[in-house]
Amino acid sequence: MDVFEPARLGPLTLRNRVIKAATFEGMTPGAVVSDELIEYHRRPAAGGVAMTTVAYCAVAPEGRTERDQIWMRPDAVPGLRRLTDAVHAEGAAAAAQIGHAGPVADASSTGLPAISAGRFFNPLGMRFTKVATAADIERITRAHAEAARLAIESGFDAVEIHFGHNYLASSFLSPRLNKREDAYGGPVENRAKVALGIARAVRDEVGDRIAITAKLNMRDGVRGGLEIDDSLYVARRLQDEGMAEGGRRGQGAGPGRRSDVVLRAVPPPGHRGLRGTQLRPRHGPAYPEPRAERVFSHRAGRVRRRAGRRPPPRPCPQARPSC
Ligand SMILES: Cc1cc2nc3c(=O)[nH]c(=O)nc-3n(C[C@H](O)[C@H](O)[C@H](O)COP(=O)(O)O)c2cc1C
Repeated sequence: MDVFEPARLGPLTLRNRVIKAATFEGMTPGAVVSDELIEYHRRPAAGGVAMTTVAYCAVAPEGRTERDQIWMRPDAVPGLRRLTDAVHAEGAAAAAQIGHAGPVADASSTGLPAISAGRFFNPLGMRFTKVATAADIERITRAHAEAARLAIESGFDAVEIHFGHNYLASSFLSPRLNKREDAYGGPVENRAKVALGIARAVRDEVGDRIAITAKLNMRDGVRGGLEIDDSLYVARRLQDEGMAEGGRRGQGAGPGRRSDVVLRAVPPPGHRGLRGTQLRPRHGPAYPEPRAERVFSHRAGRVRRRAGRRPPPRPCPQARPSC
């Protein structure tokens, strides 16, 4: 594979295979785009990346990890539009990372309760999380679809749905954080319902207009957390969702177009990057060895795995939310 070859991502053609990952920059005072953020994304676009990902666009005010984080609402659209215009002028595409931080939201900063699959003490906000009700799940699922609609209005070419990092959908996926006894707890089929429902709602909203990608933990990196078998199940179901009702079958789509939902797998919190950078060490255990990312591809309808060495098991006294 040539990294500089153009690539298809759902309805989108990328000029090469380099995508700048979402990294929250803290450049959104007042929860809107700043000139600094526009310049931050324009530069990699000018440098040649195919697509830059704008982090982190919460779908609801309580889904922010801090107050000065964008949440998708009409007031945010003009700034986001200026950003996508600047990126497009450099010949690159732009993706909006949408999601709900769930238990990782900082309730002391947003002034709103952090919502999670289960109730536990959240050291970020120094208070207990609120257990998500069926009405919360319904509202937040709908909010993802609405955020995707606003992303289109803002000129984005793709949305990346955040299903990782112990955020809301991730807290449901985790057997450690999700001890529910209702339809959303227990086997992975139940724990995956929130993520799959969100993916379906977003896809139904955007149809073929923009690409949809998803970011998913392959392992949570804590004892009792999400493990590979379950995350593969979720990956496959997301892949199925991309084909099942996406309106593509009636449009002559073949297996080569099975990239409606593309997964970007992420290492667990505390992972040391290849350059030796340690991510957010205060929220997660640090691994002594670098771990390879599990890379998933939907091309040709298959999920392929490139797995690196597993870290040695290490005890973790409590689930810690990550970035
Ligand atoms: C400063 C910083 C901020 C980040 N913010 C986000 C974020 O807002 N959303 C997200 O999904 N990942 C975020 N990440 C994780 C990256 O997107 C990426 O998954 C991680 O750096 C691992 O990829 P790499 O091995 O290519 O560096 C952040 C990483 C860093 C270093």
